[in-house]
Amino acid sequence: MSHGFETLAIHAGQDPEARTGAVIPPIYQTSTYAQDAVGAPRLGYEYSRSGNPTRDALQDCLAALEGGQVGLAFASGLAAEDTLLRTTCAPGDHVVIPDDAYGGTYRLFARVMQRWGVEFTPAKVTDPDAVRAAIRPGSTKLVWVETPTNPLLGIADIAALAAVAHDAGALLVVDNTFASPYLQQPIALGADVVVHSTTKYIGGHSDVVGGALITADAGLGEELRYHQNAMGAVNGPFDAWLTLRGIKTLGVRMDRHCDNAERLAAYLDGHAQVAQVIYPGLPSHPGHEVAAKQMRRFGGMISFRAAGGEEHAVEICNRAKLFVLAESLGGVESLIEHPGRMTHASAAGSPLEVPGDLVRLSVGIETVDDLLADLEQALG
Ligand SMILES: Cc1ncc(COP(=O)(O)O)c(C=O)c1O
Repeated sequence: MSHGFETLAIHAGQDPEARTGAVIPPIYQTSTYAQDAVGAPRLGYEYSRSGNPTRDALQDCLAALEGGQVGLAFASGLAAEDTLLRTTCAPGDHVVIPDDAYGGTYRLFARVMQRWGVEFTPAKVTDPDAVRAAIRPGSTKLVWVETPTNPLLGIADIAALAAVAHDAGALLVVDNTFASPYLQQPIALGADVVVHSTTKYIGGHSDVVGGALITADAGLGEELRYHQNAMGAVNGPFDAWLTLRGIKTLGVRMDRHCDNAERLAAYLDGHAQVAQVIYPGLPSHPGHEVAAKQMRRFGGMISFRAAGGEEHAVEICNRAKLFVLAESLGGVESLIEHPGRMTHASAAGSPLEVPGDLVRLSVGIETVDDLLADLEQALG
């Protein structure tokens, strides 16, 4: 029987525990497991880097929510990305990456993978022709996209890019961190691998760092599982449990994030202190139609450009009170930041450098009138 999203979020991988009937998966805070005889581990568990029941519960739930074959959890989003790259790429291979991406993802390509001989080309992932032109036939192994992108909220057409990648014999990787599987399911649109920083909406409470990979193909999933153990960047049982607890309310949280973001985007649009509002839910957003086609709603992230330039953008961030000035996103509390000097500082001087007048909001689930009042005083 197939179940709806909220049912899967609460139950997938989370049957009551067999021995005690515990309704919530226990935190199996153990590094190792007793074996009944040499080479005969009970239920297959030997050592918690290789396997842990709390992590398994999270992994199975993630696979169900994304409609994938295999879900794998990691110590951070970047740990998941690193494991994916070193499983699928070898020296001489090439990857197309977004020309607007999380700064840490860019740093992984530019400062780490390139040293190991993996080349990359930044391309406008909002334009399938630009991605096609960036592909190097024979050596491009991955087309890597974020959608919406971080921080400029560009929208990539996942189905169109799957066709472009597959024509070239490459895999399509979608970083689904900004949308979450409640709003967008890339595998159903043709993606091969979904990446998450579960630190964000999936965990949802700004209390745990983690990452995930979900694959459309079971074979690739098992290869990644091998590397998850061989490379060892797993999350601990308590972190897996916290993430799973967050997941249970993902659907209801996302709806409130979207409600609040829609109100704030409408308020900011046309405000005298704001030069441009970037929110995929606004009809003026160039990716609005594609977003409407592939997303359930438009998400909780808003970026805007301050009318008074970079110093004005910094002042707005500094003046906010209820919006906490902090990096990261996707938690229940609203955050504000200056990408150029904070999350995306590592992209300074690169093709991914972000405009200095940009402010990024992660709109939380507080009372929306309080958020409006705080923005009003911060804009000046
Ligand atoms: C879109 C996106 N992908 C990946 C990451 C990296 O995840 P983590 O910080 O959990 O390593 C981030 C972090 O901000 C992100 O925003």
